[in-house]
Amino acid sequence: MNETLISVRDLKKYFTVRGGKTLKAVDGISFDIHKGETLGLVGESGCGKSTAGRTIVRLYEATGGEIIYKDTNINKLNKKQLKDYTRHAQMIFQDPYASLNPRMTVTDIVGEGIDIHNLYKGMERQKRIYEILELVGLSREHANRFPHEFSGGQRQRIGVARALAIEPDFIVADEPISALDVSIQAQVVNLLKDLQDELDLTYLFIAHDLSMVKHISDRVAVMYLGSIMELTESNELYDNPLHPYTKALMSAVPIPDPDISRAKKRIILQGDVPSPIDVPTGCKFQGRCPIAEDICRVEEPALREVLPGHEVACHMVKKP
Ligand SMILES: Nc1ncnc2c1ncn2[C@@H]1O[C@H](COP(=O)(O)OP(=O)(O)OP(=O)(O)O)[C@@H](O)[C@H]1O
Ligand SMILES: [Mg+2]
Repeated sequence: MNETLISVRDLKKYFTVRGGKTLKAVDGISFDIHKGETLGLVGESGCGKSTAGRTIVRLYEATGGEIIYKDTNINKLNKKQLKDYTRHAQMIFQDPYASLNPRMTVTDIVGEGIDIHNLYKGMERQKRIYEILELVGLSREHANRFPHEFSGGQRQRIGVARALAIEPDFIVADEPISALDVSIQAQVVNLLKDLQDELDLTYLFIAHDLSMVKHISDRVAVMYLGSIMELTESNELYDNPLHPYTKALMSAVPIPDPDISRAKKRIILQGDVPSPIDVPTGCKFQGRCPIAEDICRVEEPALREVLPGHEVACHMVKKP
């Protein structure tokens, strides 16, 4: 157990934006993703979740740091090796409509990766496409239709089929259900879980809704302004959040039980999330942190293990 499939080390992705300024979307994140697990990645809008996911599957080239997939350093690959990696690492996108080409049939969409990677030809290819459609709860009757002929939930199933077509072992699911009706969100989550068991898949599951990730993730990483603030097993994060940012996020999660809800103090953070172009010195959270002290304003805290399997990046959290 806990065999590492992907190791992310001090990964950075910077963009050059207007005026030649540097926007630090992902600013030195480190974590391991274990084989067969779901690692949740949560944080507010703009904190760098999608950029992290896209950089890990190499849709973006990293500005710095390393991605190690099964002992291979992905940043140092030639073209052929990179193509090989992209076969193993796939992505499911938030908006199933925008991410599917409206002029392609389902067969073309699902078959594209099969062709790029030369996996099946002719009848075998068609047979494989039917198999995948059935695997994701669609049927062969859907094969010649276009994306607009489907409901949102079905479209996301096409997105899942496309990702699965080339038999990856790692999938970044970037808010795969946020754009869907609440009534069908659970169906897609259950589909992803079933597929994980059946195909031994490893997921990086991106979301900004904490209650959602708890349900699907084995462990959860909390991101703020391009950095990982806390990372631990999912139940532990909910029962024992240590970082003041996680505590604030957690206090915003609605609790169905009104008694508990009333007893729980809601933490309102001061100010707005700073811009990733003008990142604060020291801890990125210090300007909004209720417990920050002098050291927090000068030195950025490293992510370190304070309890077994529980990592936190905060000067104020002491090892017991
Ligand atoms: N291609 C790009 N060029 C320039 N800046 C970018 C680009 N992509 C993302 N950014 C910026 O990087 C930061 C992180 O964006 P990202 O989309 O990764 O955040 P996110 O956590 O996925 O947010 P959301 O929850 O809204 O999807 C933001 O400030 C965003 O404006
Ligand atoms: Mg995003």
